[in-house]
Amino acid sequence: MLCSRFRWSTSVASFKWNPSEQPPQIEPHSKAKLEVLRAYLRQYFNRLAINRLAINRRRKELKLDLVDGFAGGGTFQDGDKILPGSPLVMLGEAEAARLRLNEGRDKKLEINCRFYFIDKEKSHTDHLQQVLKERGYEVDGKEITVQTGLFEDNVEGVIRSIRERQPRAGRAIFLLDQTGFSCVKLDLVHRIFSKLTTAEVILTFAADALVNHLAKTPEMIKMVVPIKLTESHIHDLIEYRNGNGGRALIQRTLRNKIRSVTQAEYDTPFFIRPDVSRRALWFIHLSRHPTARDVMIQQHWNIKNTFEHYGTGGFGMLGWDTIRDSENIPLFEFGKLDKDEMKRQLLNSLPEKLFGLASEQPVTIDAMHHVFANQTAARFSDLDEVVLQLVKDGEFDILGTNGKIRSRLQLTKLKSTDQIILPLKPFIPGLF
Ligand SMILES: C[S@@+](CC[C@H](N)C(=O)[O-])C[C@H]1O[C@@H](n2cnc3c(N)ncnc32)[C@H](O)[C@@H]1O
Repeated sequence: MLCSRFRWSTSVASFKWNPSEQPPQIEPHSKAKLEVLRAYLRQYFNRLAINRLAINRRRKELKLDLVDGFAGGGTFQDGDKILPGSPLVMLGEAEAARLRLNEGRDKKLEINCRFYFIDKEKSHTDHLQQVLKERGYEVDGKEITVQTGLFEDNVEGVIRSIRERQPRAGRAIFLLDQTGFSCVKLDLVHRIFSKLTTAEVILTFAADALVNHLAKTPEMIKMVVPIKLTESHIHDLIEYRNGNGGRALIQRTLRNKIRSVTQAEYDTPFFIRPDVSRRALWFIHLSRHPTARDVMIQQHWNIKNTFEHYGTGGFGMLGWDTIRDSENIPLFEFGKLDKDEMKRQLLNSLPEKLFGLASEQPVTIDAMHHVFANQTAARFSDLDEVVLQLVKDGEFDILGTNGKIRSRLQLTKLKSTDQIILPLKPFIPGLF
């Protein structure tokens, strides 16, 4: 049974696998999704290795568990080529990281990954098993497990096994690539975060499909239970849809809902640009760490023009305050013009926000990143650039860890431990 009976832009036919048949043709948004997943995993491994070596140069092992809860059959067709699906992307990136991160190292860094691939359809897991076997992977239940069944029935066992293998770190990435919007029960995502605090969840969510089909029917009311929406929420969302805020307002409501139910502190709620069907698909990254959020948003900037969101990139873009009339809200697309406009807006609005933060006591760069992470499309490096500009303009000073004010004229880079303070002296060019 489908989690919801509608047919989405991601037509269900494009996700059917059978070992005796060719894999399905890939659609553009699935390609975009896999591209971001690949780029994200690459950066995740790089960062993990840097952190591990910075903490302890002698530690040689790096553990990570990767869970693909809606794994599909493993490959797609792209014209007459065969493309890897998400399980192969995960396996391929772990392998690539082993080679890349060990280049030129005498003491090898062991990248110790465990993979869980789950799909409810037997013909899909059969296809996946075949694909893995053809590529020389051994599905022995030690490194790679393929499970046929519902994600919701298997997740508890997976969490337990991750905690047994990694009692302290519990480092894991869950990809929950559902078709539609109601297959993933959001309280299960909350459960993942409560048991594995360093876990990250990447969730697809057909938000536009939900918006288009909003109705106060018993069927719809039942369908939205997994995402914790009630009849009165549906009523409000229908009002929004028909009112001024329109689609943008609904997106923000849903975003807040997802964050509050899952208790993820950080998210990147960007949409894969709709294809001909004009139905945008949300690719939402949820985590409890601002750095994880920053790594994901960097990938959106690197792979420009595939993702979008209402707003102009500055503060409020992802909040409520900019919404008046969705017809007039520009779409943010991670392009050059978007970046220029975002910077201009941040230069205007950051001083007031920083003043609020630093007026009582100095605030570290790290803390500033945490506070603003969810409010803008800016990477931490973009925020730092704006702060540097404000310091150069004499609006703030930077206190180094030695307790001395850093010279405005020589300041080119901020450290996470630097502190932002209100200027002690008025800025007189050439004085510092
Ligand atoms: C969008 S496809 C996955 C595509 C795959 N992630 C990729 O990119 O290669 C969604 C898959 O989820 C499976 N599925 C749907 N509901 C499920 C559930 N509750 N538990 C596990 N699998 C489910 C479907 O059978 C389908 O194969």
